[in-house]
Amino acid sequence: MESRRILVTGGAGFLGSHLCERLLAAGHEVLCVDNFFTGQRRNVHHLLDHNNFELLRHDITFPLFVEVDEIYNLACPASPIHYQFDPVQTTKTSVIGAINMLGLAKRLKVKVFQASTSEVYGDPSVHPQPESYWGNVNPLGPRACYDEGKRCAETLFFDYHRQHRLKIKVVRIFNTYGPRMHARDGRVVSNFIVQALKGEPITIYGEGQQTRSFCYVDDLIGGFTALMDSPDDIVGPINIGNPNEFTIRQLAEQVIDLTGSSSKLVFEPLPADDPKQRRPDISAAERLLGWGPTIQLREGLLRTIAYFDELLGEA
Ligand SMILES: NC(=O)c1ccc[n+]([C@@H]2O[C@H](COP(=O)([O-])OP(=O)(O)OC[C@H]3O[C@@H](n4cnc5c(N)ncnc54)[C@H](O)[C@@H]3O)[C@@H](O)[C@H]2O)c1
Repeated sequence: MESRRILVTGGAGFLGSHLCERLLAAGHEVLCVDNFFTGQRRNVHHLLDHNNFELLRHDITFPLFVEVDEIYNLACPASPIHYQFDPVQTTKTSVIGAINMLGLAKRLKVKVFQASTSEVYGDPSVHPQPESYWGNVNPLGPRACYDEGKRCAETLFFDYHRQHRLKIKVVRIFNTYGPRMHARDGRVVSNFIVQALKGEPITIYGEGQQTRSFCYVDDLIGGFTALMDSPDDIVGPINIGNPNEFTIRQLAEQVIDLTGSSSKLVFEPLPADDPKQRRPDISAAERLLGWGPTIQLREGLLRTIAYFDELLGEA
């Protein structure tokens, strides 16, 4: 495959750093752009000496003029704690950031990929969620800056596609976990692992009967590149995630088991607009991209636990 120069926004974040690694390993040049709002230098530290890797501090709510062959737009805080910290900036990153990246792609006549989210489905009344489901989102609640920002970004991508014939690829990411997640961002997998490794009580919201499906990061990145490299008429939106569903309580028990922790479970009230159930329908990804997850929860958890064990050892 020919080598391309690829822009990854949010490249110093959890998913972005894995994507940068994957693209470099495939022989591409990577321009990683990040404002380090939630991203960390340590996520890409091991890539800094790579001849094909370049790191640029930049906020995508401001225009960017660079020359690249492809764009992956991942910049946006992803966890509720981070995206609710400055909700106006979250919406700006999703919407103005999308406009800037779409404008850049239009000027360069290159393909652009958008990291959208299962949050566009809100608290779904259809289960599992196919791409054709329009969602059930509260436009005024504390999660709206993220959910509606991402929905508007999708609208922009499809309007640039229809109006300017821009080549777009839109993926809807479901809960993903793995090494380089933030240790204290309130996301359930990292929360439970850190609490278990520290022997602290494991916090469960509600009764723990709400379900989630968790995709290991390596599987997800394989879905990204499969979509980006697919024929131009496959534009998405396309769900990428792992449809294996667990209750939050089952997850907590598995983490305790795999870490050998003595942590106890504690129960707290459910936060506002917390979805009760979330599972991807990935039949489109299977059919169109020949993609499906291969790493099961136990294996992924073991790799993630090893990462956090090392991280907490350094602290
Ligand atoms: N991890 C998941 O489970 C998940 C699920 C659904 C969607 N997503 C989407 O995937 C993308 C990456 O998520 P992640 O889990 O890696 O989160 P993350 O917070 O680790 O990464 C986001 C990155 O974007 C950067 N960023 C934020 N605002 C920016 C701005 N204005 N300009 C430049 N950089 C900016 C951050 O510093 C960070 O490095 C996000 O768009 C997120 O919405 C992730």
